[in-house]
Amino acid sequence: MQYDFDREVSRTGTDCYKWDLFHARDGAPRLLPMWVADMDFPCPAPVSEALVARAANGIFGYTMKSAAYLDSVVGWMQQRHHWEIKPEWICVTPGVVPALNMLVRTFVAPGEHVLIQPPVYGPFFSAAQSNQAASIPNPLRYANGRYQMDFDDLQEKLRDPQLKMAILCNPHNPVGRVWTRDELTRFGELCLEHGVMVVSDEIHGDLVYRGEQFTPFASLGEAFTQHNIICTAPSKTFNLAGLETSNIIIADADLRTRFEKTLRSDGLGGINSFGLVATETAYRRGEEWLEQLIDYLGDNLRYLEDTFRNEIPQIKVIHPEGTYMIWLDCRALGLDRSALTHLMRDTAGVVLNDGYAFGPQGEGFQRINIACPRSILVEGLERIRSAVATLKQ
Ligand SMILES: Cc1ncc(COP(=O)(O)O)c(C=O)c1O
Repeated sequence: MQYDFDREVSRTGTDCYKWDLFHARDGAPRLLPMWVADMDFPCPAPVSEALVARAANGIFGYTMKSAAYLDSVVGWMQQRHHWEIKPEWICVTPGVVPALNMLVRTFVAPGEHVLIQPPVYGPFFSAAQSNQAASIPNPLRYANGRYQMDFDDLQEKLRDPQLKMAILCNPHNPVGRVWTRDELTRFGELCLEHGVMVVSDEIHGDLVYRGEQFTPFASLGEAFTQHNIICTAPSKTFNLAGLETSNIIIADADLRTRFEKTLRSDGLGGINSFGLVATETAYRRGEEWLEQLIDYLGDNLRYLEDTFRNEIPQIKVIHPEGTYMIWLDCRALGLDRSALTHLMRDTAGVVLNDGYAFGPQGEGFQRINIACPRSILVEGLERIRSAVATLKQ
């Protein structure tokens, strides 16, 4: 089946965080939202059909994960990423962010430390801080338009006896790196050597551009599998975030038991009936849609890069290897934090994410979402071009 990603489908009035928040708050329907990390595309047709069929049953009582559900997750990891997992390793949670919080609470004692690699997804900071731990930055290095891990700094930070966990973002939001086998191996071995558990957030792992290769962190060997925890979800891949279902993969039985205890004590042992149906269907029948999506996102990315290069050269696109959230270096505009936000939101009328929300290393950057029909992307970039042009006067 051929999907039409060019088709604009209105999300307004669906209690949509991305579109409705700004309409409601500002009464300003002219704002074009290109921020929060979901897509303006309907999910694969088989998923909607399965949800409609489930809804027709009319009874939505308590739900449990079936063997068929677990099998669909195992099958996806195997077929898509050549990563062998066992059904019993899978813990279902209502999202990756709740899982990160529970993981910190389970494995990091109050006052201990969690390493993160900013600029990085904001809830990584709060997963530590909201759970009485401290986040310790191992900032990425930015040189020649590319971000790299800083292994010298990592070695330094790993000497800290209070450091118990490292949250890895693989692929990385917002800088778009899809970490290589070598980078992951070096990172993982150093953490292993120092007894630091790695929690690898791989929610963007299915979304890599043509020619790039995603490596699940735990697929790199038995020691990585047994000592670490991997967060996965169909939510970014198939645009199902509102169904709040993710799969946390924990191979070690003792670690899994401890995590499940927290899950139950937080009252989060239940599962959303629709999330289960959508996940299983997406993993079994969504691949054709995903292949077409990746091509479409690749074309959107090319359009974005060409437009900035040719028409808005003051803003530099950090070329991503994965994710549809694109990191923009706006520092050459010479604007401070509030002037940059004002330029995008008030002058251009587009809502992007401010770079500083990803840590101080993001100051002067913005993050733009390109998972939208081309017409919206074209309009958003035209608005930014016109706004930047006003700076010259
Ligand atoms: C790296 C990363 N982890 C987690 C999430 C959100 O996960 P969830 O909606 O499952 O809580 C996002 C959303 O943008 C993300 O970028």
